[in-house]
Amino acid sequence: MNVVILAAGQGKRMRSDLPKVLHRLAGRPLLAHVLDAARATGAKKICVVYGHGGETVPAALAAGDVTWVKQEPQQGTGHAVLQALPHLDPAGATLVLYGDVPLIRAETLGRLIAATQDGRILALLTVHLADPRGYGRIVRDEHGAILRIVEDRDASAAERALDEVNTGILVAPTGRLAQWLPALGRGNAQGEYYLTDIVGRAVAEGLPVSGVQPEDAWEAAGVNSQAQLAALERIHQGRSAARLMEQGVGLADPARIDLRGELICGRDVFIDINCLFEGRVDIGDGVVIGPNCVIRDCSIGAGSRINAFSHLDAAQVGPACSIGPYARLRPGTVLGRDVHIGNFVEVKNSRISDHSKANHLSYVGDSEVGRRVNIGAGTITCNYDGVNKHRTVIEDDAFIGSDTQLVAPVTVGRGATLGAGTTLTGNAPPDALTVSRAKQVTIAGWKRPVKKS
Ligand code: UD1
Ligand code: CA
Repeated sequence: MNVVILAAGQGKRMRSDLPKVLHRLAGRPLLAHVLDAARATGAKKICVVYGHGGETVPAALAAGDVTWVKQEPQQGTGHAVLQALPHLDPAGATLVLYGDVPLIRAETLGRLIAATQDGRILALLTVHLADPRGYGRIVRDEHGAILRIVEDRDASAAERALDEVNTGILVAPTGRLAQWLPALGRGNAQGEYYLTDIVGRAVAEGLPVSGVQPEDAWEAAGVNSQAQLAALERIHQGRSAARLMEQGVGLADPARIDLRGELICGRDVFIDINCLFEGRVDIGDGVVIGPNCVIRDCSIGAGSRINAFSHLDAAQVGPACSIGPYARLRPGTVLGRDVHIGNFVEVKNSRISDHSKANHLSYVGDSEVGRRVNIGAGTITCNYDGVNKHRTVIEDDAFIGSDTQLVAPVTVGRGATLGAGTTLTGNAPPDALTVSRAKQVTIAGWKRPVKKS
């Protein structure tokens, strides 16, 4: 089977410089969602007809399995499919999808394809709308057989009163398309080559036309405005949340989670309100994610707890860890078992091993931290000299006093203690106290200056 995706239109009502099909739903271009649906049919050939936005459209998708066909100028949906025709396998059927209709279900397409009786007849996806204005109407005879499609602007008052509309999604025998498309005329209100005119042609040739309805009307809903895009985003997110709950994930509120990627959860995971997941996130058994967390491309080990307002990006969190509230884990963070990262602590490109803790207000960057290390409040690894980044090594069982600066490259030996306020510029030997601090003095009898009159 072939799939042709129509994606050449401008999408004026988006009021955006971005081609419409590149606007994002759940973090991915609309067209990427349609390509997923196309691939799910098992189609051998997928053609995308593009035009508006030019080469930015193929460049944004990087889809190696797609044949890109440029339509310039855009002279209607019939003209668009005609451009793809030379690239199609003439033997099978051809499914037409719209690049701006992202939520179409694979099962629905399966039913539509089945309705073609092995690709021999035409099958249309139609929906009944309370407000059918603007759409092509499905005209049926007194027995309910489909006769033709009439576009809104070409319809009579009686035809405009019909509430069954053309979604634009259809499956046609490719051999017939090759006869019908070059013969289309443009004697209509819009002066365009209408793909919808093939329906009348099929009927005239005695070919039955089958109508199939989606389970939900939103499957056939297109994006023409920012408001429609936002509405489809909510539907998509609602479905993602429902899927997570079916898998056993506990959600404080399924209306307040956003998934822009893939979220894989173990058993008994609980996610509190307003969390955003991006990229691929892998969460182990029994993990609790507190409210208002943003988590991208991370793995989180079993039994860990991510507390409120934490931001995790490309980090690996081991099991039984406690992160946040207000923690920031940046790319290259790898945490072992039972690691505690507390409030206002930032970790970047660092490995922190089992049972170590940095509970308050610290920056740990480009570091190797051993086991059972305690990093006191206000500790900073000074990893950047203005030109190069340098590494800090803190060995097992070290104790870093509060308000310490570790001027990298520097090593704190196993079991070493750094006194509070130390600015460490050389290595600290193991099992000893290292402190750099002016000696405390008290000046007895000292008086505050008084204002001269
Ligand atoms: C079309 C249908 C109408 C249907 C409606 C559903 C025709 C003649 N009409 O109308 O029956 O109810 O969709 O939304 O088919 N496109 C191209 N090249 C073109 C023209 C359009 O690629 O030259 C693409 C658009 O980017 C869009 C799709 O085809 O994805 C539909 O185009 P649009 O202009 O929205 O069609 P309508 O006139 O709304
Ligand atoms: Ca449209």
